[in-house]
Amino acid sequence: MTQTDLRQGAPETAVDVSSDLALYKGDAIVVGVFADGELGPTARSLDAAVGGMLTAVCETGDMSGKKGAQAVVYTHGKIPAPRVLMVGLGRAKNVDMERLRCAAGDAARKLRDSGCRAVGMGLHAGLTLSTTDAGEAIAEGALLALYRSDLHHTRSTDAERKAIDTLTLLDADAAARDGLATGARLGEIVATGAHTARDLANEAPNYLPPLALADRARDVAEEAGLSCRVLETEDLRAEGFNTLLGVGQGSVNPPVFIVLEHAGDHDEAPLVLVGKGICFDSGGLSLKSGAGMMGMKHDMAGAAAVIGAMGAIASLDLPRRVIGLIAAAENMPSATAQRPNDVVCSLSGKTIEVRNTDAEGRLVLADALAYAARYDPAAVVDLATLTGACMTALGKHTCGMFGKHDRDTDALVARIQAAADATHERVWRLPLWDDYDEEIKSDIADVQNIGSSGYGGAIVGAAFLKAFVDGYPWVHLDIAGMMTSSKNKGYAVKGATGFGARLLTELARGWGA
Ligand code: BES
Ligand code: ZN
Ligand code: ZN
Repeated sequence: MTQTDLRQGAPETAVDVSSDLALYKGDAIVVGVFADGELGPTARSLDAAVGGMLTAVCETGDMSGKKGAQAVVYTHGKIPAPRVLMVGLGRAKNVDMERLRCAAGDAARKLRDSGCRAVGMGLHAGLTLSTTDAGEAIAEGALLALYRSDLHHTRSTDAERKAIDTLTLLDADAAARDGLATGARLGEIVATGAHTARDLANEAPNYLPPLALADRARDVAEEAGLSCRVLETEDLRAEGFNTLLGVGQGSVNPPVFIVLEHAGDHDEAPLVLVGKGICFDSGGLSLKSGAGMMGMKHDMAGAAAVIGAMGAIASLDLPRRVIGLIAAAENMPSATAQRPNDVVCSLSGKTIEVRNTDAEGRLVLADALAYAARYDPAAVVDLATLTGACMTALGKHTCGMFGKHDRDTDALVARIQAAADATHERVWRLPLWDDYDEEIKSDIADVQNIGSSGYGGAIVGAAFLKAFVDGYPWVHLDIAGMMTSSKNKGYAVKGATGFGARLLTELARGWGA
């Protein structure tokens, strides 16, 4: 392997559908149990074949059916599969896609770690969800959970490496096949988008400077069928991307601006997705502490989500026109680095006093948001690991959502909220009243890149971005708290979450033509 080889943590798991339930020959069958130990329909049909052992597990109290509970039953040759993993789903009427994703994820990871290579899933029967939605949630949850973040472990042979080769959605009723198969395909595409985002964000920063990020965006574009254009230093100078150039000027690795386009069916006002792509954020001359710098390879998580979502949007062949814009740079201290007090004229023509070089995300986004206006967009959504303050305010269970307080923005917020509900990539709106504009007034330039009071850092970051938004509905998502997971749980895997890739894909899916 060389330094430029693509590292991928996505499982090479094939997903298929079968109605041969009791004849299924894999290493395990996963079945659902509802609250109070009530066997789900798939569990019930297997129970007879295994001599009532599943009922016995519930009657002894070893399986409550509570969500998250698991119990393994060994089948001793009564059916071809040597084990059945019973998983608690809670009350049947309360099982939604998120609960299925988590149950499928926990089950898939557990079975992979016990060495299973072929796993059947019979989790969906008896629910109020459609077979398509259930198939999507199960495939998505299992594939996401099987992701591996150990991109640079020198791996042992394939035979020794634990992996699930096939995941089969099982339903004795052949009528369920088509719905399950459609859902499985959707789940695979959506999970692939999130895996692309995780791969990019997990990659070590010496492997992924801005030009390498652009190469990977090109690979995704080629594979999924997107057009891709990359603006390099000379192009950026000619166009006047001075805030992007300014942030990148301290690094030997030059900045780039990446444009991905999914044409859709109509020549219409596009949905524009913008990602902060700081490949490493040292803080620049306003240098971060050692501890504060740790993990700053993830400061391109917004860009990663946009690239992942664009790939999924193209693979789904959605009718809507969607553009992805990525402002990528490395924020480093050096003799050529931008100084605190420098004044930069952004692409929009507005001047900025740089008072803290560590508030670099908003600088590169200023040019990106100005560039977005050229598309006369129907809406612009930016994703950025923008502020530690947002993480302090909201923790690690939701990102912050910001927009102007007007009707067009409220309509966009409602669409994003619906996508967040569907994907469980949650958003929480914070205020962005004009009162906050005072914070970013500069004595020497039009605006300054940090607030004057020191309070409300996440809102001040958003207020700065607002100054570069002109003529289109816009929402900013501050995803700083969401960029990593500290544990393997449900379908989350320790490391980069890929947060935003599924949300943006769902937003585009819900938008229609
Ligand atoms: N990339 C950071 C924000 C960040 C911090 C993301 C922690 C994820 C985890 C951003 O560029 C930054 O450094 N922001 C400063 C802004 C401040 C200088 C106004 C911050 O949050 O401290
Ligand atoms: Zn910073
Ligand atoms: Zn940053």
